[in-house]
Amino acid sequence: MKIFNLFPLTILKDTISIKETDREILVNEIKKMKQKDNNENYSSYAWTGDTKGYEFLFENKLFKDLSKKISNVILEYLKTLEINTDLLDVYYQRSWATLTENEQSINFHTHSQSNISFAYYLLKPEGSGGIIFRSSDLQNEIAKNIFTSSKLEKSLINKANAYNSDRSMFDLEQDSIIIFPSKTAHATAPNKSNQPRISISGDISIMLKESKGYEHLMPNFKNWTKF
Ligand SMILES: [Fe+2]
Repeated sequence: MKIFNLFPLTILKDTISIKETDREILVNEIKKMKQKDNNENYSSYAWTGDTKGYEFLFENKLFKDLSKKISNVILEYLKTLEINTDLLDVYYQRSWATLTENEQSINFHTHSQSNISFAYYLLKPEGSGGIIFRSSDLQNEIAKNIFTSSKLEKSLINKANAYNSDRSMFDLEQDSIIIFPSKTAHATAPNKSNQPRISISGDISIMLKESKGYEHLMPNFKNWTKF
């Protein structure tokens, strides 16, 4: 007998190395951003720079080297999908930091305004919470909602595995980067480490350099007409 798994969701994980002195500089810069924004009570929700006025982090020259290293991994992701990057202009549309204190987390959301998203773990103490991906479009769901976690609790499903799960968690080590389609719903597990967890996230837009003859990808914005 042989089992075939078709139509996957492809997540790429790689490692980016940076000098410890550089890590310290970037961590301090992010902590300063959060401190400037200290008049809100974030309670159980992590501080996310994208909604606090810090959504263009890679314009900050301190983050230039890191953004270049991340670009190479993004291109590898596109190549994994066999997308011809020679035909594309690739842009960081937004980039920001998240700072998660103890017991904080981030609820499920998507970045549906872009194509590809990533998270790089600049500071990731052990136990500070993984990233959880969720799908509402399960190819194997032979009866509606048969694979939600409550069915597992009620013993209808013997064991969660890749064939029958609507979610999956990656709890990666510091300096890992994870890349995924922006439309994929994701959340973070609560930080249980008593130390802050810092990630750098970003959204990438791709467009055709020349759109002549192509229907499906965004035409280059240099050809758009503003009104
Ligand atoms: Fe996100």
